[in-house]
Amino acid sequence: MDTNPKSPTILVIDDDAEIRYSLSRVLSSRGYHVSEAPSGEQGVAVVKKGPLPDLIFLDIRMTGMSGLEALQHIRSANPKQLVILMTAFGTAQTAIEAMKYGALDYIMKPFDPQRVLALAENALKTHADLRAVGDYKPTINTEDYKEGIVGSSPVMQEVFKVIGQVTASDVTVMITGESGTGKELVARSIWKHSHRAGKPFIAVNCAAIPDNLIESELFGHEKGSFTGATVQRIGKFELCDGGTIFLDEIGDMALATQTKILRVLQQGEIQRVGGTETVRVDVRIIAATNKDLEATVKAKAFREDLYYRLNVVRIKMPPLRDRVEDIPQIVDFCVQNLVKQRKARTSRVSPEAMAVLTRHAWPGNVRELENVVYRSAVVAQGDAILVKDLPPDIRGEAADSPQPAVLTVDAALDFLVDQALASGEPVLGLLEKGVVSRVLKAEGGDEARAAKRLGLTKAALKKRL
Ligand SMILES: Nc1ncnc2c1ncn2[C@@H]1O[C@H](COP(=O)(O)OP(=O)(O)OP(=O)(O)O)[C@@H](O)[C@H]1O
Ligand SMILES: [Mg+2]
Repeated sequence: MDTNPKSPTILVIDDDAEIRYSLSRVLSSRGYHVSEAPSGEQGVAVVKKGPLPDLIFLDIRMTGMSGLEALQHIRSANPKQLVILMTAFGTAQTAIEAMKYGALDYIMKPFDPQRVLALAENALKTHADLRAVGDYKPTINTEDYKEGIVGSSPVMQEVFKVIGQVTASDVTVMITGESGTGKELVARSIWKHSHRAGKPFIAVNCAAIPDNLIESELFGHEKGSFTGATVQRIGKFELCDGGTIFLDEIGDMALATQTKILRVLQQGEIQRVGGTETVRVDVRIIAATNKDLEATVKAKAFREDLYYRLNVVRIKMPPLRDRVEDIPQIVDFCVQNLVKQRKARTSRVSPEAMAVLTRHAWPGNVRELENVVYRSAVVAQGDAILVKDLPPDIRGEAADSPQPAVLTVDAALDFLVDQALASGEPVLGLLEKGVVSRVLKAEGGDEARAAKRLGLTKAALKKRL
């Protein structure tokens, strides 16, 4: 017939002839090349024999092979096959099973033709986008993996150099930078490369622990030293002996505690809260803050002497917006980790999606990027993360963006008339012929019904035929 050889092919598998008929009608109205199979067995045979359809609509309840069974056969023959399941009976279990076995979507009968068309269009768009991803070459190599810190931008290369310089000694390091830039990651990296790697690394978030508990947390306490101190407690510094302690958000530490940290730095010793005994500890301190510590010193909320003691070497973590060239590598790193942890199925990202991620400003830095990649990887259905899988705010759309517009009769007519005009044939004759033959086909060749649908008498229709 009049099917364009390049139009997408859709296979409808349903044992109900009426459903096959109405679906074919709706879908071919949009120019899709539709074929039908009246059972699961025959549908599977068609797929195995090839050529593969671009999309399959598959009924769940059929006599003989069920839709879910057919889905498994189809997906094992072609793991990338796009399948939309249909059912008249919606249960949580079938919906869950359907998605688990790799269906793209799941719709309930009776269906709205517009919804069917929108689904098919989206599915085929996804299909085309996925094909366009082609061979995917990740931007990172295995060395980046072991390290866990990714980045080849000049600013990050400087950070890596400083990490290398401070690993040989026990010098105190102060790491500054916005939230989510990788301060803790850098602290761990220093520890891992140092001679202390075999001993503990303990991170303490000073902002998260109330002032009255932080000293006991850090230095421990003796039994009975305060209400609730029913047993002796060993603090983080003692637990960390020989290792590295990471004092995160040090700008939020109370002044009294700061004095005790200074003592550790100067004398290498601590006292448990409520105790008199001095305990020697060998701990390297790495501190971090996202505050302006100089301003805190000026405001007398941070001891100046401690500030100088901590700030022997300073590592300033650049915000992600100053190292956009690292974004593709960080994205690849994140998705590959997710695949390893079996939290995502694909480690591929389409160039368009990567471009969107690279353009975003990332006020939450790497932590925010990581979170967005995770959310996108989880919803990605094909074998690559596409733009449609990114959260709407990242795509630059309002969160409640409307569904893609469906073709109205008016819009379709605009298109048809344009095409007819371009063909050079008499427009009315061309369109009339097309309309009459299609309505006749839709009514199964019944001239009386077709005439009625067209608004013509039977005689007028006969004349046109
Ligand atoms: N360069 C990087 N390469 C790969 N992953 C990174 C990089 N930088 C940060 N991350 C990841 O981003 C997340 C945030 O990093 P991290 O916790 O070190 O940041 P932070 O600066 O301590 O943040 P906050 O101030 O919020 O505590 C972590 O999951 C970390 O593994
Ligand atoms: Mg942190």
